Amino acid sequence: MKNCEKRFHKIYHRDAAALAFCPYRICPIGAHSDHNMGKVTGQAIDKGIHIAYSPKENGVIELCSLQFDKRAQWHVAQVPERRQGDWADYLRGATLELGRRYPLTRGLSGVIEGSLPIGGLSSSAAVTLSFFSALCAVNGLKPAAPELIKMAVAVENNYVGVSSGKLDQSCEIYSRKNQLLYLDTLDDSYEVIPTHPSMPSYDIMIFFSGVERTLAGSAFNMRVDEARSAAYALKAFAGLPYGKFGETNLREVPREVYEQYKNRLPETWRRRAEHWYTEFARVEAGAEAWRRGDLMEFGRLSFESGRSSIENWETGSPELKTLYDIMTHTDGIYGGRFSGAGFKGCCMALTDPAFRESITEKVTEAYLREFPDLKGKFSVHICQSADGVSL
Ligand code: GLA
Repeated sequence: MKNCEKRFHKIYHRDAAALAFCPYRICPIGAHSDHNMGKVTGQAIDKGIHIAYSPKENGVIELCSLQFDKRAQWHVAQVPERRQGDWADYLRGATLELGRRYPLTRGLSGVIEGSLPIGGLSSSAAVTLSFFSALCAVNGLKPAAPELIKMAVAVENNYVGVSSGKLDQSCEIYSRKNQLLYLDTLDDSYEVIPTHPSMPSYDIMIFFSGVERTLAGSAFNMRVDEARSAAYALKAFAGLPYGKFGETNLREVPREVYEQYKNRLPETWRRRAEHWYTEFARVEAGAEAWRRGDLMEFGRLSFESGRSSIENWETGSPELKTLYDIMTHTDGIYGGRFSGAGFKGCCMALTDPAFRESITEKVTEAYLREFPDLKGKFSVHICQSADGVSL
């Protein structure tokens, strides 16, 4: 029995009627690409968000989380129009989005449980999608995958106010165990590339920095705007039509145009664009490496992606940068980077299972030497790839 089911029983004195689940995701190559219509790679992992729930005929939604203090409550027909500033905003936003498209009559009572510390694995998309799955089930709805992704992204963009793309939600839905999701966010075309028989086995190791942060929305959004500004300026330099600023993205600007005019960009904008174009090339090269079973090359590209996120996209807390450095000097790690936006949480790595113990020991020892206060908070988790969520 999951802890959320036990807690449900304790609160309501009966068993929950159902259990919803959505996995977390990793993105080994393709960071900070989706909001500018780039390409990404990703996998869902065998850890994620569970919600133990039962329907409520009166339309009330009543939720608590094992990770957060306050219980949250609203009615399917009366969701606050504006965010309230707490963990349940994703779920209020999700109720609004779903309610705009489908008639909602039933609510639910539920308890939410995350299986890993928060940060970097896209628990926000996972909690939104597992909640969608529960709310759709109690209302007898079955939206198709692209619609679910669209609604979940709209929650982040419009209700929570983060200019994220569709990487997280797509990984958490389209991924297949032992395969690599290769998605073009421009037109949503995707492939799940099987693992080549000659590819060595690997673990997905997650190193939690011990610092749980919420997505730093303002810094995240500023980077996205900087990349857009670069696109806008490049179009103007090249005499291309530049359209509306909010819809501008680097995908509309050919790399040759960037190469020709990059030195006229303000240095910070040039770096954001440099990350985006080089990441685009890394994703394409990474997909081909995966296809031929070349995990060494795939890992190398993931490390490079991490370096570009630090130097060009200029993200990464001191803790995450230290972890990244340690990973690049540890035997048995094919590659890795900070997982997600880089403002919080963890680093992911693809690792050789024969080195599990030595990697755990070396990374833990080297990290805690730098951050002794994080002893007891820093943690290492060994995961495997998994199927995405289906309704
Ligand atoms: C967050 C966002 C994603 C993506 C990544 C960075 O996880 O939600 O859309 O931009 O950061 O690659």
